Amino acid sequence: MVTVNVSLGDQSIRTVDSGWKMFVSPHARTILARHERVQNRMENVVEIKNLCVEYRGRRGASAVKLAVNNLTLNVRAGEVFGFLGPNGAGKTTTMNVLLGFLNATGGAACLFGVNVREPIARQRIGYLPELTYYYKFLTAEELLRFYARIFGIPRGEADRRIDALLKLVELEPARKRPIKTYSKGMQQRVGLAQALINNPDLLILDEPTSGLDPLGRMKVREIIQRLKNEGKTVFFSSHELGEVETVCDRVAIINQGKLKVEGRVGDLVAQYQCDLERIFLKIVGYQPQPAL
Ligand SMILES: Nc1ncnc2c1ncn2[C@@H]1O[C@H](COP(=O)(O)OP(=O)(O)OP(=O)(O)O)[C@@H](O)[C@H]1O
Ligand SMILES: [Mg+2]
Repeated sequence: MVTVNVSLGDQSIRTVDSGWKMFVSPHARTILARHERVQNRMENVVEIKNLCVEYRGRRGASAVKLAVNNLTLNVRAGEVFGFLGPNGAGKTTTMNVLLGFLNATGGAACLFGVNVREPIARQRIGYLPELTYYYKFLTAEELLRFYARIFGIPRGEADRRIDALLKLVELEPARKRPIKTYSKGMQQRVGLAQALINNPDLLILDEPTSGLDPLGRMKVREIIQRLKNEGKTVFFSSHELGEVETVCDRVAIINQGKLKVEGRVGDLVAQYQCDLERIFLKIVGYQPQPAL
């Protein structure tokens, strides 16, 4: 329920979301409707509308790959949103558009209401790439200080954030060791700390648990849960459907660049009468082979 306060000259109206339209003048109604639209828009941290991305072949080659096909998707503030799809479905490509690494060939995408073509749209985001390539001779502490400097975070504040983040990702004991001596799980966690150094409101994580053992996955899941509790929005891709089911508020499944299903995990499970993994397999057209 949304309470709206609007001042119209000397007339002040306080009204409650549902049914307010019945009690106010047409003029007030117009203003309140505008206010409501703005509020709704602000609730969508990520807005993707009719997005298309084509990859063209090399010069001279005519082949065009439509990696994202008319995708429309919204992620609301404070949500943990699972972006699912088989290999090659278009998840990383979509994220690359949000991050400004790639231009869409059609449609549009906004972060916090700002078109992703504007660099300022990315001011409040943190990003963990699918594959991380860090300077492996740096320690975790040095790497985080490097990123803090890129964001222009003052030294004292950077020190505080680095301490807190290394604690969060449980790398405190290894903070002075070069990253090249880290296991895969530790590297993934240093990547998460890097994604959080600017205290972003939106996290875009491309397969944050890929290649991790069950304990590593559990730790990443706990971190995502803590970020959600802090009010952050998390948009992440994953192939680990069991964990997606436990951590996500909503999911979208795409296949060959197209949105196939979107909704709250509980609603989808109730609708399809099976778990997320089976829903996924159904949607991507998996047919069980008869036993030999
Ligand atoms: N630079 C590129 N040039 C040409 N085609 C590309 C390029 N990058 C991706 N593709 C193609 O676009 C499609 C979508 O790829 P994308 O990497 O977005 O999928 P994904 O859903 O992230 O897959 P995965 O789960 O394997 O990470 C695939 O068919 C892929 O081969
Ligand atoms: Mg990918």
